[in-house]
Amino acid sequence: MIETNCSLKPFNTFSIEAKAQTLFHFNDMAQLPELLDLVTKYHSENKPVLILGAGSNTLFCEDFSGLVIKVELLGVDISTSDEHYILQVAAGEDWHQLVTDCIAKGIDGLENLALIPGVVGSAPVQNIGAYGTEFKDFCESVEYVDLLTGELVVLSAAECLFAYRDSIFKHTGMSNALITKVTLTLSKQWQPHSRYGSLQNIENQEQVSAKQIYDSVCQIRNEKLPDPEKLGNVGSFFKNPVVSQQQADALLRLYPNMPNYPQNDKSIKLAAGWLIDQAGLKGKTVGGAAVHKNQALVLINQNNATSTDVILLADLVRTKVKAMFNVSLEHEVRFIGREGETNLQQVIKYVRAK
Ligand code: FAD
Ligand code: EPU
Repeated sequence: MIETNCSLKPFNTFSIEAKAQTLFHFNDMAQLPELLDLVTKYHSENKPVLILGAGSNTLFCEDFSGLVIKVELLGVDISTSDEHYILQVAAGEDWHQLVTDCIAKGIDGLENLALIPGVVGSAPVQNIGAYGTEFKDFCESVEYVDLLTGELVVLSAAECLFAYRDSIFKHTGMSNALITKVTLTLSKQWQPHSRYGSLQNIENQEQVSAKQIYDSVCQIRNEKLPDPEKLGNVGSFFKNPVVSQQQADALLRLYPNMPNYPQNDKSIKLAAGWLIDQAGLKGKTVGGAAVHKNQALVLINQNNATSTDVILLADLVRTKVKAMFNVSLEHEVRFIGREGETNLQQVIKYVRAK
């Protein structure tokens, strides 16, 4: 189905009003020839094309002047080998529902990633992660269609170049890769990951089940993170910054209680939420946008926020954290402008000039 001059408010969890010139609901691979023709038309008119899942990591900064492809492909196929469950999942399936269905079927492994909003096709893009595991830990391969050629390509997990909130799908030259399907392998020899943060509070760790971890993760997340159905947000607005050991040591001398997580390459990951909190920004508002009172890394649409409110608030947060800690925050959320992807540094210029 194709819609024109369509509101994107129902299609982004920030609930920001913006319009798309055209929205294509891609729910059947049989639509591919029609979709490819449409993409060719938009490219020939120099108009942008955007691939969208559930919009839970997307900030529409303005109306979008081109074609939005909303990926709604459905289907889950489960097979087994001697040692693994093999899941082939279409890109439009809901991620949390997949996790929930797996746990109900006794297919364990994905429980730490429960309650992450969004669809399956977006999960590889930033290599979703929470409570000690990441998408890459279960990924066998990712299938995509090249929107320029129509070719179906399968990348192995190694070829996806997964890293913290990163993958090949965020790299230059991959904006025409529309993920259609992922293949996950879950070991039948399940190993719990229950030593991360608050999960350590689960009693009787030796006997812990995947369902217990699933329930704990859901409980912790429900306590900490606002439900986008009730309060618009996109989860962590910024990534946790990674700094040198030297910079972390200097900060730790000033702030001995600062959370810090040593990485394999000897760099140190800091907690952006803690930095924003220490900068005194919890509850800070710009127009209808606010820094969440329980989790300072989450910016919320408190009262009919516009994208301008969110952009100004994000810039204030970034500027204050830089001034206080000399740490640069990079946003995790994808900024989409009129002509395609943009970023905070770019949009703040025209927002200030308004
Ligand atoms: P969208 O916002 O629709 O798209 C995200 C990006 O992926 C866009 O750049 C889009 O172009 C691209 N994309 C989407 N579908 C495809 C496709 N089929 N092919 C190619 N590119 C595609 N993230 C975490 O990692 N861990 C968390 O714990 C976490 N918690 C969250 C909690 C809340 C309350 C919220 C609102 C968000 C949270 N997030 C978290 C962020 C978000 O849920 C993830 O990034 C999720 O994977 C986004 O899915 P989506 O379908 O909504 O993506
Ligand atoms: N903290 C504060 N004040 C705050 C927020 C956090 O002091 O307002 C402190 C906490 O006390 C803790 C530390 O900062 O010591 C880290 O906070 P938390 O455990 O809540 O996790 P996070 O680093 O803020 C990351 C991910 C989340 C993921 C959780 C759990 C990023 C950018 N965020 O958050 O992912 O769910 O860990 O694994 O890596 C997302 O990407 O959208 C997301 C929600």
